[in-house]
Order: sequence, then C-alpha cells, then structure tokens
Amino acid sequence: MTSTVPPARTTATPADRAAAAPAALSTPEPPARAFPPGFRWGAATAAYQIEGATAEGGRTASIWDTFSHTPGRTAGGHTGDVAVDHYHRFREDIRLMARLGLTSYRFSLSWPRIQPTGRGPALESGLDFYRALADELAAHGIRPVATLYHWDLPQHLEDVGGWPARDNAERFADYAALAAQALGDRIDTWVTLNEPWCSAFLGYGSGVHAPGRTNPADALRAAHHLNLGHGLAVGALRAALPSAAEIAVSLNLHAVRPLSGHPDDLAAARRIDAVGNRIFTGPLFSGAYPEDLLADTAHLVDWDTLVRDGDLAEISRPIDLLGLNYYTPTVVSADRDTENATRHDGHGDSEHSPWPGADDVSFHRAPGELTAMGWPIDPSGLTDLLTSLHREHGLPLLVTENGAAFEDVVGADGSIDDPERIAYIRAHLAAIHQAVEAGADVRGYYLWSLLDNFEWAYGYAKRFGAVHVDYDTLARTPKASAHWYAEVIRRGGID
Ligand code: FCB
Repeated sequence: MTSTVPPARTTATPADRAAAAPAALSTPEPPARAFPPGFRWGAATAAYQIEGATAEGGRTASIWDTFSHTPGRTAGGHTGDVAVDHYHRFREDIRLMARLGLTSYRFSLSWPRIQPTGRGPALESGLDFYRALADELAAHGIRPVATLYHWDLPQHLEDVGGWPARDNAERFADYAALAAQALGDRIDTWVTLNEPWCSAFLGYGSGVHAPGRTNPADALRAAHHLNLGHGLAVGALRAALPSAAEIAVSLNLHAVRPLSGHPDDLAAARRIDAVGNRIFTGPLFSGAYPEDLLADTAHLVDWDTLVRDGDLAEISRPIDLLGLNYYTPTVVSADRDTENATRHDGHGDSEHSPWPGADDVSFHRAPGELTAMGWPIDPSGLTDLLTSLHREHGLPLLVTENGAAFEDVVGADGSIDDPERIAYIRAHLAAIHQAVEAGADVRGYYLWSLLDNFEWAYGYAKRFGAVHVDYDTLARTPKASAHWYAEVIRRGGID
C-alpha cells in the first residue's frame, strides 16, 4: 500500500496494540485455535523422493530404482537419480526448515544406502550421512523422526522374493537393529513402516508402485510379512534404543464411507475397511486378523499356513505412537457400472485391483474440490479417523503426512502464490484441532512435503512442497504456504 492517507477504522490493529504496549512486541497474538503445548510442528519427506545420489557412498539399487528405470512405469520416465539432490544439499534444506520454525522433521532412511544387499553389516558411509543429517537438525533445535521403510526395498531382497516372502520380515528387523544401534543416540522417534497398505497392495496387487507385481495372493502375503516385519522391528528397536525412545508406525488408514445406507453399499464399505484398514489395525492392536477379512480372502490365501504360531504376538507388541497419513476420504458402493464409478480409488491406472477380496466394490468421487492429484478435499475424514482411533485404541497420535499437490505457478518476480495449498492445510489443521477438542491425544503434524519431489509413479509432475524446487537449477524457493505455515508455527495454531 502506497497511500499516505490511513483508512478509517474503528478497531485497533495489531500495529496499534504493539505501539501501545512495546514490551509485548515479540509476543504473537494467541490464535483462536491453539494446539497443545509441545505439539510437534513438522514436515515430512522420504529418501527416494528427495535424496538423489543413488549410486554414491556404496548405495545399491532399490526396487524404486529398478521400477523407475523400466520404460512406461513412471510419468515421463522420471527417476529418483537426482531427485532434489538432498544428499548434497541437506544443510541448505535444514536451514530452510529452521527459517520456517519447524520443531520436528520426518525423513526416511534409505535401506540400500545403509545395508546395500539387505543383509550383513551396515555400511558406515550410509550411516554417516544420517549421522550428519541428525547432527545438523540438532544444531538447529529440530527433532528428528526417522522412518525405516518408505518403500525403497533393496533390489537384492526383491530378487529373492520381496515382501511376499517371509524371510523379508526377518531381514527388515535386522536392518532396524543396525540403524537403531548406529543412530539411536541421535534419533528418539522411530517409525517402522510408511503406509504398508501401499507397499503391499500397490506394489504387489495393482502394480502401480514398485516392484510392479500384480498378484492378489502375493499382495496379501506381503501385507502379513509387512506386519510381521513391523513387529519384529519393534522388538529389535526396543532392544537397541534408549528406554525413552518412541516407536510408531505410519498407516494411511482410509476414511471409508458408504455411498448410501443400502445394505449392499454398507457391505462394500465393510470390505474396504477390512482390507484397507483392519488388516493392519487388527493384528497391531488386537493381535488378530479380522474374521471378515479372512472370509473375504480365503479363496486367495491359506491364512492358516501364512500366519505362524507366535506371529500375532510379535505384531501386537505395544507401540508408543500411531502415525496417521491422510489426504482424502474413500467413498464406496456395491459394484455399479456408472460413469463416475471406478474400480481402483484413484491410486493410479491399472487393470489389476489393489483390493483383493473386494472385486465387487465401486469407488466414487467424494464431494469437494479436487487437488492436482484428482483427490477430493474433505478434511472431515481426518477428524473422523483421529477421533475413532482415539476411541478404539487410546494411544497418542501423530499426523505423519497431510498435504496437497496443486499446479503451482511461479510469478514474474519469482514468488509462488499457492492459496489453495494454504486453504487445504488450514482446513486440515482445523480438522485436527476439532479431534483434539474431542479428546484425541494428537501430538504433531507433519506437512507433506517440505520440498517438491519425486511423486512416485507421477514423477516430478505433481508438486506437494511448501518449498518450490526448480528442477533445472534445483533452486529452492519457499512458496506462500511456507511463509503462512511458519506463522502458524510461530503462533502455535490457527484462527
Ligand atoms: C503418500 C506417500 C508419500 C507421498 C504422498 C503424496 O502416500 O507416503 O510418499 O507420495 O502420498
């Protein structure tokens, strides 16, 4: 504003108040919706999506290197070879985090950087990278949260069967032990798996994610071995970490909604809830797979041979926090051959379903505006999930991912104005606040994502970052949403 005539006003502005009380200058206005003290304000990333340097420091190929280098698997043939070069630029990225005022940062450890063949001793060069990262975070007062598995299985392990093979669970626990022994003095919050639903059902069911296999029985076997790997890893982490360390798993639980109250639609919702959610929460929290899931999938796998004595006790070892990743709700009905119904729920394009045992279910677009992923925006699913998790399991919760891709435009002055992303984050923070008011013990929020990055099968076409990355120069520029989020963090909440 260049006008020299101040507009008429009847109420005091923040500037008036600051002038009247100079001592209060640095104290921000309390927000209308304040989050609990100690709430972790974070951002999240994953190794393969940001690190690049895929052939450095002794790292070998993961299933995502193989998959992305296979023609036709990712948009534009994009790979994570360079990604956003975080491996070399992590110090700059941590300075950015500090400028945003993040109090916590969730990243993932690259398994093939730490244990290239998925067996045997750890590689010191791989551990050194994460030691340096954790030290730099500590120097900026940012609390690290390490995810052990964000989808980059060493290709060596896929070559001998991958997650559908039981041995993979044991290999994962060994890797967890190595990582915890080396990094447990620097990292106090550990997430075993990120979204095992995607690993099992997109990786081995619909095949839109690495390793790109399409066998419903293998997808179910993978789900059990991911659960088992989680449980064995919890045991290994407890043995290696200081007693104050916190252990979590991050699930992309589906906020499943029937299209109508018709019994057939309710049955469809029950099936998707079973193979989308309770296949994980059942064994994790109740030490049993749900009976209806076993019945729905009995024609595909022999659960009695798959699940061995003692497995469920391993899987249900207590954890300290549950991580929830949420983007959009899931609306289902009994099979309908209409224009708006799909078989796959917006998880990429494949003739193979990621929903074994639920072939007679259709997915519908939820009401609401769409993000650039085509995902409807409906924060009420987040409130619903947090309140029901609190009611049913009672444990502390972290929102370990939430955010949105939009078609960002770089302005003539180089700035990126992304009001849709601000609106998305604000609405989802309000949804979390509502769950907190209803009693849910939510301890943190991790925006997906800190930086624009390699969005799996969509390559670099979808931008989720609060910080824009120019893929030619790799220059980082905070978007308006980053500045807005910094202010939210400074004030401890939203209005
Ligand atoms: C989640 C993934 C994360 C990112 C977001 C958009 O499913 O965990 O890596 O791709 O979706």
